[in-house]
Amino acid sequence: MNARAADLRSKGHDVFAFGVGEPDFEPPSFVFDGVRAALDKGVSKYTAVTGIAPLKQAICARTAEVRGWSPKPSQVTVTVGAKHALFNLALALYEPGDEVIIPAPYWVSYPEQVKLCGATPVFVETTEAAGFKMSPEAFQKALSPRTKAIILCTPSNPTGSAYTEDELRALVDVWKKSDAWLIVDEIYADLVYDNFKHCSAAKLAGDAMDRLVVVDGVSKTYAMTGWRIGWSIAPERLAKALDTVQGQSTTNATAIGQISRTPSSTRETWATAASSPSFHSHRPRLVAATSCVPSAENASAVTTPSCLRCPTSVAVTGS
Ligand SMILES: Cc1ncc(COP(=O)(O)O)c(C=O)c1O
Repeated sequence: MNARAADLRSKGHDVFAFGVGEPDFEPPSFVFDGVRAALDKGVSKYTAVTGIAPLKQAICARTAEVRGWSPKPSQVTVTVGAKHALFNLALALYEPGDEVIIPAPYWVSYPEQVKLCGATPVFVETTEAAGFKMSPEAFQKALSPRTKAIILCTPSNPTGSAYTEDELRALVDVWKKSDAWLIVDEIYADLVYDNFKHCSAAKLAGDAMDRLVVVDGVSKTYAMTGWRIGWSIAPERLAKALDTVQGQSTTNATAIGQISRTPSSTRETWATAASSPSFHSHRPRLVAATSCVPSAENASAVTTPSCLRCPTSVAVTGS
């Protein structure tokens, strides 16, 4: 899709490419300050496979602060982006014969990673009328003795829908009665608006915490897509397996990337991309524009002239 967008651009079209989710501004300045200081001290060596201790502690502290639950650093695996965290999980968990439930529309990599491991994605269709949210009933119906995991993305790429605490609790209650893993991709948790309160499934899991994994990263929250830092927070028994998987692939995420996300000091440094003036000014326009797209589910290239007030605009979309 990105190649198609580039091709259209080269032919003179003004293209809004919805292929990669990427903020259009640079990360906060504290990121660069921290990196410069680290370079002066030297950061050219391997790190521990699952990440440097200060970063893992920072991830735990931040999770406790904004998500209301307190993981231990031994549960954290720092990865080369959240996509890599999900891939590690796929390698550690899925086997041929396993089913993995994915509400649709979904982020493209979920089913592909499942299939690469020989397992089968099981899609639960959602509707626009239901806010693109999976109902507990539909979820229950999709569960089978072969269900190895459910991947839940909230807030969701691509739909933008996000489960309220009550909605999430209803799904968690269904999941708790199964033997499956719940993998919650919370990479967009910090990018919520209009007083919406993100609720982490980890807060609701109770005695099923030993089957729950949270995935997150810096790409969206801090506009740091290219730094490639993500992580999973998993029960220790699974974190050990992830250590083994990652130890035989990338070893660690780059040392300098890890430094880039390790805060040196204050709470202010944690201002996220959600508060960026760019997001605040773009969002109403984009919401209005995408609301006019006739059939986003089926479209591969949709002209949206009136919405974006640009007669030659082309929106390249996909799931
Ligand atoms: C829902 C979702 N999860 C995970 C990722 C992966 O993010 P990254 O690998 O950049 O951390 C993305 C990126 O677009 C995404 O949209």
